[in-house]
Amino acid sequence: MLFSATDSLADIWQTLLHELHRGALDLKHPFRYLTLATAGTNFPQVRTVVLRQISADLEFLVYTDVRSTKVQELLEVPRVSLHFYHPKKQVQVRVKALATIHLEDELAQVHWNRVSEKRRSEYQSKLDPGTRIAAPAAGWESTIESSHFSVLKFSPLSLEILQLAREGHLRIQFDLASGWQGSWLVP
Ligand SMILES: Cc1cc2nc3c(=O)[nH]c(=O)nc-3n(C[C@H](O)[C@H](O)[C@H](O)COP(=O)(O)O)c2cc1C
Repeated sequence: MLFSATDSLADIWQTLLHELHRGALDLKHPFRYLTLATAGTNFPQVRTVVLRQISADLEFLVYTDVRSTKVQELLEVPRVSLHFYHPKKQVQVRVKALATIHLEDELAQVHWNRVSEKRRSEYQSKLDPGTRIAAPAAGWESTIESSHFSVLKFSPLSLEILQLAREGHLRIQFDLASGWQGSWLVP
């Protein structure tokens, strides 16, 4: 369990932040991978992405190819949901956030410098992500001339945490509007 019914909301908030930060730092932590949900054009869209960093201002950073469908969707509707699940602790975290796309700016440059040479080709494919191809090899062709690396920044408006527990499940919502003060919810 990550927290219990006897913990204070302030302590639970700190525990939650600590655990999310661990997700960004520890490659084996289950919060390392999150589900990013966008409004999509006709259907809501979900996909797994890697949590690269949580900033001091509680912004969630993710890397992507700026040509990817998710970026087009974010330009249309910047409101997203993020989903984390910790199977051992039986904790789910849901985040409502606003997205901004960083391309060829200072933030993107700082993070591009952290991407290893080996991994850079993931943002340098010749063809746009999602292009139909006759065989897989066509999708691995890359060019070092142009990089399409971008950083997605998700600024949260609310975080909701659900702790499953035998004695009774626990659910709390934390809102930016109330200075991240939590409220218990019926699970
Ligand atoms: C374990 C895992 C981690 C992934 N991490 C990322 C990531 O950090 N950034 C990313 O753009 N795509 C990542 N992907 C690929 C996405 O899930 C998705 O397939 C791809 O980005 C295309 O999505 P889109 O068409 O909605 O843009 C990852 C996939 C898996 C399975």
